[in-house]
Amino acid sequence: MEISKEAEALNAGLQQAHPQVFSMLSKKGRSFFFPKLGILSQTAEAKGKKMNATIGICLEEDGSPMRLQSIQQHLTLNPGEIYPYAPSFGSPQLREQWKSMLLSKNPSLQGKEFSLPIVACGLTNAVAVAAAMFVDSGEKVITPDYYWENYDLTIAQGCNASLVKFSTFKGSRFNIEGLRGKLLSKGEKKVVILNFPNNPTGFTLRKEEAPKVVEVIREAAEKGKHIVVLLDDAYFGLVFEEDALQESLFGMLAGLSPNVLAVKIDGATKEDFAWGLRVGFLTFAAKDAAKECYAPLENKAAGALRGSISNASNLSQSLVLKAYRSGAYQEEKKAKFELLKKRFDEVKRVLAAHPEFREEFVPEPFNAGYFLCFKLKHADAEAVRKKLLETYSTGIIAFGSIIRFAFVALPLAGIEPAVTNIFSACRDCRKP
Ligand SMILES: Cc1ncc(COP(=O)(O)O)c(C=O)c1O
Repeated sequence: MEISKEAEALNAGLQQAHPQVFSMLSKKGRSFFFPKLGILSQTAEAKGKKMNATIGICLEEDGSPMRLQSIQQHLTLNPGEIYPYAPSFGSPQLREQWKSMLLSKNPSLQGKEFSLPIVACGLTNAVAVAAAMFVDSGEKVITPDYYWENYDLTIAQGCNASLVKFSTFKGSRFNIEGLRGKLLSKGEKKVVILNFPNNPTGFTLRKEEAPKVVEVIREAAEKGKHIVVLLDDAYFGLVFEEDALQESLFGMLAGLSPNVLAVKIDGATKEDFAWGLRVGFLTFAAKDAAKECYAPLENKAAGALRGSISNASNLSQSLVLKAYRSGAYQEEKKAKFELLKKRFDEVKRVLAAHPEFREEFVPEPFNAGYFLCFKLKHADAEAVRKKLLETYSTGIIAFGSIIRFAFVALPLAGIEPAVTNIFSACRDCRKP
């Protein structure tokens, strides 16, 4: 792969600033750069000039963005916050805002240096960019065996890599030994993806488990492994039990070791109930890293975005920024959280009230997020799924011997009937 002069300069700077982080880049990651020269920089230099004929958008006679009334009539935002392109790095105000929100939501980040978040088109795009930056063709990416299926496309297929799985649970605990085994296995570079609260299980680490996970990462780093930890925090904040960790592992990993690069992938999608707006973020942290390390990483991520989606929706970024700056935001979020927590508590109540359900299925550990998984004891999950559709007018996701149940999508009063339907369909489909 040919590396441009601009990428070479970026690589030299990163190698000098933080050789361990530089060594973690994939071949593609080494080739990424955000072009300083050319259209974008010439456009930037012309900004504010009386006659600016550089930009690739049309302007009205009064200089405001050209627009169609059939679109504008539905919107109250200023045209400047809607129609022009957002920068490939993301809106500067939104990036600063998200950074300060990361600090307040993750107390362990206090006093630690981390990058300015880059805005991606949702978390899927952020996962794909992070994978392209750090995962080489043929490389193995470690993941618990309960993982979001789209890693198959974004990471495995997208990077021609393979996912190496370990059992998520050991009894009712997170399988820390399983993670340790994979981290200490042969090879100096390790890439691991962790997703808490998890899709599909709805499990997040408990407060006493999190430091132990951090410890095994530290142990591997001290043994000389260079570890990229991709943290998919899509369901951040939706944590329903007291003993569960409320913040991201990002804060604890940020200052852990120069051999550990934490990449936080998060966004408005799930935590702000804004699925279709497609606002995701990508943030980096490593011990001993400063601006000289983060700036090239941000530049490379923006380069990868420029070469794929070019930039995320300006309208969406403006909308979420307005929400984050609104005095009502925290209260509104709290109200939604409380509703979802009621549904979570209802699932717990229903399972406790119906011990007979355990004859057909048991839940995997769950304490957070949108879902839980039922492990079926006697029936085939796909057969149960079909039966539920045909006889009980109920939809669930089936894979292997597991049913994924999205309790967040049902009204409170619908939870008991839905779980009862799953029980009945399991009975109907019992294998002889
Ligand atoms: C764990 C996890 N990560 C990422 C995503 C994708 O988020 P987005 O819709 O922002 O691309 C999802 C969506 O289902 C998810 O469950």
